Amino acid sequence: MKSLLIFSSLCVLLVESKTIIEAKQSVRKFPDGFIFGAATASYQIEGGWDADGKTENIWDHMTHKEPCLIADCSNGDVADDSYNLYKRDVEMMRELGLQFYRFSLSWNRILPTSFPDKINEAGVQYYNNLINEMLKYNIEPMITLYHWDLPQKLQDMGGWANPHIVDWFADYARVAFENFGDRVKYWITMNEPREVCYQGYGDVTKAPRLNMKGIGEYMCAKNLLVAHAKAYDIYDKEFREKWGGTVGITLSATWHEPEGDMDADLAETINQFEWGQYAHPIFSETGDFPPIMKEMIAAKSAEQGFYRSRLPEFTPEELELVRGSSDFLGINHYSTFLVRKIDERDSFEVPSYWDDMEIVRYQPEEWEGGASSWLKVVPSGFYKLLHRLRELYDNPPIMITENGFSTRGGLEDDNRVSYYRLYLDAMLDAMDEGCDVIGYAAWSLMDNFEWMQGYTERFGLYEVDYSSPERTRTPRKAAFVYKEILRSRSLDPNYVPDTTVMTIDGVNS
Ligand code: BGC
Repeated sequence: MKSLLIFSSLCVLLVESKTIIEAKQSVRKFPDGFIFGAATASYQIEGGWDADGKTENIWDHMTHKEPCLIADCSNGDVADDSYNLYKRDVEMMRELGLQFYRFSLSWNRILPTSFPDKINEAGVQYYNNLINEMLKYNIEPMITLYHWDLPQKLQDMGGWANPHIVDWFADYARVAFENFGDRVKYWITMNEPREVCYQGYGDVTKAPRLNMKGIGEYMCAKNLLVAHAKAYDIYDKEFREKWGGTVGITLSATWHEPEGDMDADLAETINQFEWGQYAHPIFSETGDFPPIMKEMIAAKSAEQGFYRSRLPEFTPEELELVRGSSDFLGINHYSTFLVRKIDERDSFEVPSYWDDMEIVRYQPEEWEGGASSWLKVVPSGFYKLLHRLRELYDNPPIMITENGFSTRGGLEDDNRVSYYRLYLDAMLDAMDEGCDVIGYAAWSLMDNFEWMQGYTERFGLYEVDYSSPERTRTPRKAAFVYKEILRSRSLDPNYVPDTTVMTIDGVNS
């Protein structure tokens, strides 16, 4: 009976995504005011790891100490060399016709001691050059303050598990607002707290690989949320009136589907742990961590002999500071998982995040996917996610800050073209129903250092040749298709690009 249920729910999901895959042969328009961009992150593209006074971050530290933790034993020492090649990057933005470009700042490049006692002029100059070059061509800069490259010195003092990081981050944010806020109107405090905390503190799949299961990720989550809120508060009180920008946070939001009809509440529980953990404190009316998380972790902690819940509590002041601390909700979405209840097949460490949830997630092998093991093509999951976010948080303005597909390289990336079309189509479905999606950034402008996978997984609209000292960038088919979507402000499933020559035209010329 159970297997029948599983089979039928799989079919439903496949049929649903199939419906979307096969539907909409007509051209669909994007609304006026909707903005398109592309995204990158400092450690993944800049290189110049010790250039002009920059000091060591946790990724420098980890990849230098144990190179072969990374799939191809590589690192971000040179990466795409954007520290030197930023003008070519801006040229690519112009070729694509981007309205905005999302990039992140390297904390160590700006503050080599980690603190504001010494501001590195060369680091500030680098970002000024990049920003000014973009503005020359009407490309709006969108800055992420923290995209995973914490100063190693701060990590040595506990990093996100140390509550003092709230002030350390707030100081860094203030320096960034002061130096760039006159020209930068879109700010994102954090990229994907879930990956920072769960993967870096509760597991070993991102630096600093602390593996403090069931404890580290929750301490990190609380401190990170308060640090985010403090930075938001600083902007709000000190800079907003003068410069009129907006500040948000970017969450990774994977969609989860129940394996069978009886498991619907499981999908809701894991969604609450995975992204509700960060969205609920900021975007819900009541604030605080999701009630289901609080209950489950408190009960487990008591059972396990802890004197208090492993999920730290916000003080009433912190709760109020965090509640409402975002002008928009940044969403990085890539894929969907099925979920089922934990059973005798599974064994999780105790305590741990997964044991707290008592849920297992997986993706059927037959689902079509990219080069990344976790990236399966399920556009209906994107639609459902947007729908649920609208329901849960009173239809907040949503900025899609990342969405994209990985290959092993090559310019003929038809799978990536098809992924972008399907996901944009699903996004338009959600928007037609009233979801307030205000913009979309493709991940990524170009290939880059894909964290533990090094350069083995490629997400770029532009291919980067890592064997050439110039790090030559060449547009893939998807770049031509994306350019046409932006030019025509519409999605034409039948458009066939001429990929012989990439030109600069339109608004950014
Ligand atoms: C991150 C990016 C990463 C991408 C693909 C997101 O989780 O923000 O840095 O490269 O996904 O894995």
